[in-house]
Amino acid sequence: MTWLIAGIAVLAVLALIVMFVSLRGQDSETAFGQLSNEAVSRDRSKFTPAAEGDSSSVIRTGKEVELAAKTDRSLATVGPSTPVAYVPPDAETIGVARRQFLNRGIIAMFGLGLSSFGAACIAFLWPTGASGFGSVINVGKINDIQAGIKAGGGFFYVPEGRMWVTEYPSTAIEKAVDQYGFYDQVSDGLSAGVVALYQTCPHLGCRVPECATSQWFECPCHGSQYNRVGEKKGGPAPRGMDRFPMVVTAGNDLLVNTGSVIQGPAIGTNTTGQEAEGPNCISGAEEH
Ligand code: FES
Repeated sequence: MTWLIAGIAVLAVLALIVMFVSLRGQDSETAFGQLSNEAVSRDRSKFTPAAEGDSSSVIRTGKEVELAAKTDRSLATVGPSTPVAYVPPDAETIGVARRQFLNRGIIAMFGLGLSSFGAACIAFLWPTGASGFGSVINVGKINDIQAGIKAGGGFFYVPEGRMWVTEYPSTAIEKAVDQYGFYDQVSDGLSAGVVALYQTCPHLGCRVPECATSQWFECPCHGSQYNRVGEKKGGPAPRGMDRFPMVVTAGNDLLVNTGSVIQGPAIGTNTTGQEAEGPNCISGAEEH
């Protein structure tokens, strides 16, 4: 975040420099812009060779015209004690000044717009140190999670990761090795006694709540049912609940990668043998 602020600050400074350079010193030594080819050829057509030394007949560049106008203005403001006859401003000089103003205004606006666009792009692309759903989430110490599961009546909800964490019995690990094609990705968590389940129903995407009485997950939309480790028990869902890869660190933290959803186990997978432990919350639906 610090780098983002620094980047935006640098761009803002650059934009200010561009504006300052473009707007400063309208009468500087360096004339701005050039006469168009059409204007030059029109001037040439008016040019009449004059006697040698007659400087009024020499074709002047835009810079020279601008400097001459500056000199005229300074002579016209010499002081009240030296009255000078009024010299009407040269139409061409006024035209050049107007063109300069427009050119510099356009450059300033362009620089400002470009700087804003650059800042927006940098802000969009800057790594945000992502957290929350879609990233790797540290759910906490295994002991704390197990305490949370117990306190939640068998279910521990992690809103940040849109997931349920439930207990996975150690006696079922052998079957998981045989039946879960994704065992390697979840083995750490299962060995530690937990499983991280995606809350979204694999049927049509409703959020699946827990059922405290049956100790299952039961979807209110079309009645799909899953046991406590997300294996399908009934309803129209095409598989068990999806889940996330898990890693347990040396410090006993459970890291869950919510950026990688593992498809749930196939219908018929039953590693825990858990049946409904009480009345269902949703009456079972016909399988499609
Ligand atoms: S969305 Fe859950 S059963 Fe249809």
